[in-house]
Amino acid sequence: MTTTPEATITRDPAGRGTARWSDICSYADLIPERGVCAMVDGVQVAVFRVYDGALYALSNLDPFSGAYVLSRGILGTRDGTPTVASPMYKQVFDLRTGACLDDPRVALPAFPVRRAGDRVEVALTDEHRQ
Ligand code: FES
Repeated sequence: MTTTPEATITRDPAGRGTARWSDICSYADLIPERGVCAMVDGVQVAVFRVYDGALYALSNLDPFSGAYVLSRGILGTRDGTPTVASPMYKQVFDLRTGACLDDPRVALPAFPVRRAGDRVEVALTDEHRQ
């Protein structure tokens, strides 16, 4: 599933100026243990809802294959860490940080994601906007 979000500008709760939160979809649209991909400020973001209800957002680009596929990855855990495995070559990434658990030299961008009422929103940091 691909969604095209509407952007809203809000005050960053941590007081670091403005955070540009983009609406992705309704929380109920996210199926537990599945991801969706969304275009946010020109960046393909993979948004995941895991079994316990938590949300995570990573770049959708798999650095090993060069394909935009992480939203279709397999969710799981490794030693208590929530993870997604690329559907291409199966490297496993930490959903919280984007770090690759199979290759410490590689990490995906991880983005702030939040639930706002029944909506799910993602914020990109300046360095990732296009
Ligand atoms: S564009 Fe949505 S999964 Fe590829």
